Amino acid sequence: MSATLDCRICGGTLHEFFDFGRQPLADAFVDPHHPAQEYFHRLAVAQCGSCTMVQLLEDVPREHMFRTDYPYLSSGSSAMRDHFRATARHFLDHELRDPDSFVVEFGSNDGIMLDTVARAGRRHLGVEPCAGVAEAAAAKGIRVRNAFFEESTAAEIVAAEGRAKVIYAANTFSHISYVDSVFRGVDVLLDGDGIFVFEDPYMGDIVERTSFDQIYDEHFYFFTVRSVQNMAAFYGFELVDVEHLPVHGGEIRYTLARPGTRTPSPEVARFLDREKILRLTERSTLERFATNIDLLRDGLRTLLVRCRDEGKSVVGYGATAKSATLTNYCGIGPDLVSFIADNTPAKQGTLSPGSHIPVRSPEAFADPYPDYALLFAWNHAEEIMRKEAEFRRRGGRWILYVPELHVV
Ligand code: SAM
Ligand code: TMP
Ligand code: ZN
Repeated sequence: MSATLDCRICGGTLHEFFDFGRQPLADAFVDPHHPAQEYFHRLAVAQCGSCTMVQLLEDVPREHMFRTDYPYLSSGSSAMRDHFRATARHFLDHELRDPDSFVVEFGSNDGIMLDTVARAGRRHLGVEPCAGVAEAAAAKGIRVRNAFFEESTAAEIVAAEGRAKVIYAANTFSHISYVDSVFRGVDVLLDGDGIFVFEDPYMGDIVERTSFDQIYDEHFYFFTVRSVQNMAAFYGFELVDVEHLPVHGGEIRYTLARPGTRTPSPEVARFLDREKILRLTERSTLERFATNIDLLRDGLRTLLVRCRDEGKSVVGYGATAKSATLTNYCGIGPDLVSFIADNTPAKQGTLSPGSHIPVRSPEAFADPYPDYALLFAWNHAEEIMRKEAEFRRRGGRWILYVPELHVV
């Protein structure tokens, strides 16, 4: 491990613990008819020796990642639609009871959460830089500003609409390297007794389950309760609640408030104790995680090479952004996985970033069924296996690699 750049939050010394080498952008699917030069960057992760935040060493310019044609649609999963409906109901029932209260979500994508808020008639605004998904939300009657959330955007929103009771972000705050500007924006936009709530993949689950495919260009920070508490304090906020969520392989929803405005929940101390007992933020834990990454890579490659040598067909399921790191780091190309089935229209007919595995519609999966399906969208296992129950009935087997490599 080597100490290189400084921590993006506190300026502390960074200790690198894993280097995936040169990797493509995880959501940059390749048009086979107009193949452009792919953008590669060095994907390496480090931990800050002072505030403990785990972060990428290289920051990809945001305009490369979050473009007009960003292909990810949040509403492609019915389980996630349920999750965000419940989230919106929670805010409506507890924080937005005043009929004039205002909620801002950044990274609102196709409006999966704000849809429920808009239907309830509450004042809301989505902030979403990718025009395609922002338009999909607007078409549902949701108010969206096509911009990156940062200090200047927040100032414009306050001037036009006043302050917000709730500022929310799901699977977005950890994507933003410039958290200083975001916190300044939250500070100007948030009501005195308002809350800033965000939910993102939990480093505790990533380490425990070796879900290293969560590491890719868009995921800049990997949060623990300890590092988020430090970050909140650094920018003048207090971490007042945490909730472990089962979605996307294990996330935590963090609630921040201005210091002294809310009584902290005992869950914060409970999680901090748990992280200490598990030694989650210690260097030795991250070194063990690094060893486990390579063990998993070797195990998965051996299994796929054996399938190929035995003449078995293997198809991928879910052209996730996560699968970019998995396929490119493990050397999995079309010779080992013939295509990937995915229900996202914008991904179908393309090639996966870097590994160039063709992406097809889920109909192709049954035409004919393969011997094995490698479930890249392991975080949607229940939903996909239910949908594709016929595959197993006909003798097909799923290959999963989280929480460990297994075939079911
Ligand atoms: N919130 C949705 C969910 O949980 O399914 C979407 C998550 S998606 C992985 C990340 C979203 O964050 C993208 O739609 C991207 O355009 C958006 N995003 C990235 N940087 C942003 C910023 N600075 N402000 C607002 N949105 C941003
Ligand atoms: P995610 O893990 O980042 O949410 O991405 C999931 C990918 O899997 C996304 O490209 C959509 C795809 N998918 C399907 O093809 N079928 C499904 O039933 C679900 C839930 C997702
Ligand atoms: Zn730091």
